[in-house]
This record gives sequence, C-alpha cells and structure tokens, in this order.
Amino acid sequence: MEADGAKQTGTQEAYTMARTSASGMEDPMVKLHVDNTGTLQGKRVTLHPLAPSEIDPLAQAIAEDETTSPWWGDDAEKVKKWLTEERAHPFAIQAGDTVVGVITFYEEADPDYKFAGIDIGVLAPYSGRGLGPDALRTLARYLFNERGHHRIVIDPTAKNHRAIRAYEKVGFRPVGIMRRYERGPDGEWRDGLLMDLLADELME
Ligand SMILES: CC(C)(COP(=O)(O)OP(=O)(O)OC[C@H]1O[C@@H](n2cnc3c(N)ncnc32)[C@H](O)[C@@H]1OP(=O)(O)O)[C@@H](O)C(=O)NCCC(=O)NCCS
Repeated sequence: MEADGAKQTGTQEAYTMARTSASGMEDPMVKLHVDNTGTLQGKRVTLHPLAPSEIDPLAQAIAEDETTSPWWGDDAEKVKKWLTEERAHPFAIQAGDTVVGVITFYEEADPDYKFAGIDIGVLAPYSGRGLGPDALRTLARYLFNERGHHRIVIDPTAKNHRAIRAYEKVGFRPVGIMRRYERGPDGEWRDGLLMDLLADELME
C-alpha cells in the first residue's frame, strides 16, 4: 500500500520486529524485509506503510501484547481484519531498527464531511516513552498538509485513560461520550470517547 504524497525513499531495510514475550522482552528472531516507499519521518519514529509480510506477525504481536490486547483484542485474526480492511492505511511505527507498534488511518470520502480517523497501538515494552504521540503528530501532519484534511478524529474507549492522556498531549479535544459504542474483547458493549483535532490545534 502506498501513502500518496509521502516522502519516497524506495529502499529495502531489514529490521527486528518487536514482539512481547511473557517476560516483556523483545524477540530478536523475527526478521522482516520491508519496502520503505511512502515513509513518514517523525522526530523519534519513522512510519512506513505496512508490508504484506508484516501483517501476520504484527497482528499476532498486538493480540499477545499486554498493553495493546485489552483495546485491540486478543484475537489475531480480528486485528488482522482491522489492519487489512479496505478503508485502512496501516503504517508500522519504527523506532531505530525496531517496529514498536502500528498506526492506521481512514478517510471520509464525502467532501462536505471530509475528515480522517486514526487508530494506534504501541507495544508494551515501548509504551510510556512518548513514541505514540510522536507517531500521532507525524501522521497528523501528513493528513493535514499532504491529504488536505482540516479535522482528524480518534475514538478511544472511555476508560482508556492512558490513550486519552496521550491524545490530549497532541492536541485532541474530547467531543463527547458515544454510549455502548463498541464491543470489547469480553463481549460487553462499552462507551467510547470521540475526540477531534483541527489543523491549527496540533501541539508539536
Ligand atoms: C495509547 C498509546 C498509543 C499511547 O502511546 P505511548 O507511547 O504509550 O504514549 P505516552 O508515552 O505519551 O504515555 C502515555 C501517557 O499517559 C499517561 N498514563 C499512563 N497511564 C495512565 C492512566 N492510567 N491514566 C492517565 N494517564 C496515564 C502517561 O503518564 C503518559 O503521560 P505523560 O507523558 O504526561 O506522563 C499506547 O499506550 C498504546 O498503544 N496503548 C494500548 C493500545 C491503545 O490503547 N490504543 C488506543 C486505542 S484508541
């Protein structure tokens, strides 16, 4: 998948994909090759469009990870479905030579209601270091500057206080509670918090 308008590098790179084991250590055995076409450069992270070969191992890592699984779910097939759904534009979040998570966006096509929506997951060993906000700012800049959006939305579970805090640091503001918005991994409906960010509100 190619990210239109993104910086083109077209290089092949090998890197180690982070996987969370029971001990929370990364598994250096998972080596992948990716095409960096359409890479977006942040201050501390690089976002590269997810390569087909990355989808299965990343979905598995997200489903097994203690930080991401409560929100993305522990079913790798479902995670894979979200990463590969037709509207999704998924990027791997890369810090140094390690993939630390995933960030994806979708777009509303109707020009009178134009907006982009973002979802993100940073794996446990890399959470709490500011990498998520850097990835969000990087993708937001791309959506505002290259894809002509004026508004971006994100919709964490209402009880996901860490995510809400991370999004506020980027400039997202709460719009309101969406009651029984999504079905959680436990099968129960849970409330979501709609947050949005306008182009002139991005906090660098
Ligand atoms: C949400 C997420 C993307 C944030 O990325 P990150 O790189 O960990 O973000 P940060 O490094 O800014 O750390 C999170 C912030 O929340 C704070 N935080 C952590 N736990 C918290 C809690 N229970 N309540 C309130 N704030 C909390 C941290 O202190 C930090 O804020 P600070 O810099 O002001 O101290 C990442 O944690 C993640 O992927 N979580 C699991 C999946 C998920 O929730 N995805 C979002 C679905 S919408």
